[in-house]
Amino acid sequence: MATTTNARVTTEDDITNEVLKRFEGTPDPRLRQIMLSLVKHLHGFVKDVQLTEPEWFEAIRFLTATGQKCTDIRQEFILLSDTMGVSMVVDLISHRKPAGATESTVFGPFHREGAPHMKMGDTIAPKDTKGTPTTISGRVLDTAGNPIDGARLDVWQADSAGFYDSQLPNSDELHMRGIFTTGRDGTYVVRTTRPVHYQIPNDGPVGRMLKATNRHPWRPAHTHFVVSAPGYEPVTTHIFDSIDPYLKSDAVFGVKDSLIVDFQTNDKGEATAGFDFVLKPAGK
Ligand code: BEZ
Ligand code: FE
Repeated sequence: MATTTNARVTTEDDITNEVLKRFEGTPDPRLRQIMLSLVKHLHGFVKDVQLTEPEWFEAIRFLTATGQKCTDIRQEFILLSDTMGVSMVVDLISHRKPAGATESTVFGPFHREGAPHMKMGDTIAPKDTKGTPTTISGRVLDTAGNPIDGARLDVWQADSAGFYDSQLPNSDELHMRGIFTTGRDGTYVVRTTRPVHYQIPNDGPVGRMLKATNRHPWRPAHTHFVVSAPGYEPVTTHIFDSIDPYLKSDAVFGVKDSLIVDFQTNDKGEATAGFDFVLKPAGK
């Protein structure tokens, strides 16, 4: 004979509501807001696609592999954030700029501390003999157009084969990086090689994700800058070469029109590019 009970039927929405209730007492209001929204969206996603158990285990395997791929010089989670477009959404939310101030873009995984301090006009590419010698120059200005004295430009770039120093066999050695400080006229001059488009690291889980979804791993040619000065909001940005074929399909969604620059070639076959960085006052 069947026994009847008063057992409560638990639905997916019951679980979501119960989880939300457990987070409701979070003392920090911002953390509370984030956790409640995260639970709502995460549960909503699982219900939307009716995620199966094998798919969830595969997702956990993927995230585990992403963590295991990370080392001091390999940042697979940054790559995941970048290729999912999350880094650029956070960038856009975080850095709303007044008209005229230089726009920001992704930081990426290849910045390193300890780059050498250089004099204006020094090259960051002393060993990159195959690339096109290139000079990038301009000024660092405030939003009123005045030059900023003592602005610091932290510059890094891939070499002409498309690799950052940390990807090379002698990965401890710093190359294609330098720190430049402006004088009273705000002028900077950086010698380098012409940036080339390159593939983001794709021999790990993020590369497998790109392949499975029929996406390419290319970034358009660019040079990275973090420009900062006391009293101003620092900007993390790139300048992009206007002739690059990947400007419209950057694997990490980092291109902004205001950062695209024409590189000119002179009669010696060398390239020049001009770009003024404009910083907004801190806290405004
Ligand atoms: C980079 O430009 O260095 C970069 C940015 C995001 C992902 C991979 C590389
Ligand atoms: Fe880069």
